[in-house]
Amino acid sequence: MHPEVLKSPWLMNKRLRDEAPVFQDPSSGIFFISRYEDVVKMAMDHETFSSKMFSSNRALYASEDEELLAIMNQGYENVPTMLTQDPPLQLRYRKFVNKAFSPRSLKALEPFIESVSNELIDNFGDSGSCEFLAEFGVPLPLRVIVSQLGAPEADLPLFRKWTEAFIGNLSGQLDRDGLLEAAREVIEFQNYFVKRMDERRKKPEEDILSQIVNASIDGEKPLDNAESLSMLSQILVAGNETTSASLTEGIWLLIKNPEQYEIIKSDPSPEVISNFVEEVLRYSSPSSNMFRRTTKDINMHGVKIPENSILFARFASANQDGEKFPDPEKFDITRENLKEQVAFGKGVHHCLGAALSRREMNIGFKVIFERLENFRLSEGADTPAFAANALLHGLTGLQLSFDTKT
Ligand code: HEM
Repeated sequence: MHPEVLKSPWLMNKRLRDEAPVFQDPSSGIFFISRYEDVVKMAMDHETFSSKMFSSNRALYASEDEELLAIMNQGYENVPTMLTQDPPLQLRYRKFVNKAFSPRSLKALEPFIESVSNELIDNFGDSGSCEFLAEFGVPLPLRVIVSQLGAPEADLPLFRKWTEAFIGNLSGQLDRDGLLEAAREVIEFQNYFVKRMDERRKKPEEDILSQIVNASIDGEKPLDNAESLSMLSQILVAGNETTSASLTEGIWLLIKNPEQYEIIKSDPSPEVISNFVEEVLRYSSPSSNMFRRTTKDINMHGVKIPENSILFARFASANQDGEKFPDPEKFDITRENLKEQVAFGKGVHHCLGAALSRREMNIGFKVIFERLENFRLSEGADTPAFAANALLHGLTGLQLSFDTKT
């Protein structure tokens, strides 16, 4: 959990896979599960490896900090819904949003994704350089999800701020002031959406928010505000930071691997771009670790793991497992088993937004390759660095120079 290891986890992950595939981190007590086969086994067995962690944020923080508790008491409980819930309840929650992520809904979104990609490049294309994360990686998925949540574009900065607050809470790296500030931001997010949810109950629109608050599944009562807010925050966090990270690392990987860039330049077909996207997902694995809790005593590779232990399913490490992906450190868009990467997880919790994210990346990169070329790090720029975060892995920025195609 040391920040430097969180930034560059690869060597440690390799040692864990080779020497200690089940390793209990002495500082946090968390069991790290690092091999592909074991991570997949965990993801497929939700009865033994539960995703239900904490009944509420309050349970997490209450005993520790009165001021934090006072802020959180102004808002709604963080109820466990999709990511933090087990079947059958988890599947029930997913039903409320499935329609918004159906192939039909996503197909209808494609022109919007393409026009946003073009607009973003219009903003910086002529200058020959940009900070790619801030000017393309972040705004593309953010604008798509904000449009899907039915919020006006003018509110984009608010969404960016709230996403950062949620990510900060997940990072395990905030100091006390940071935690207090993040808690205030979460309350602001809740107040904003409670107002909008009331509006959608009175007058439904064609957006995810209307579906969440008005859907009635099998005659059940609709979701209440706390449940809806939990779902919205998951969609916001999961939907923004991850795709931004993969888009940005994708361009960085092309700079570092010019021979792979040549393959795309000589054949920028949808198939080749799709292979590139899968290898970027494998390589970047922005959702690097996910929590699980054991529901009984188990034994893995000779290590006893008691009931109620917390584990990390290390998806990023699984994607670097040489038993599954030969020569795993090589970025290779011609791999035969590209589709077996597990950046989106596996089993019942397999990413709700996987198809949306794949579309954003395939369309975003297609537009980039149509309009820009000769990617390189801007002169004098530092080598891009990764942020320290226990669950999410991504670059802090990418100072990019390029040529525009005529
Ligand atoms: C590159 C982009 C993305 C990556 C790498 C990613 C990764 C993941 C992973 C690994 C899981 C499984 C977690 C587990 O097993 O505990 C997951 C679940 C989830 N993802 Fe994504 N995700 C991405 C994009 C998105 C997008 C665009 C959305 C929504 C707009 C989204 C929404 C969700 C939700 C709601 C879940 C929880 C599903 C459940 O537990 O039933 N994700 N994601």
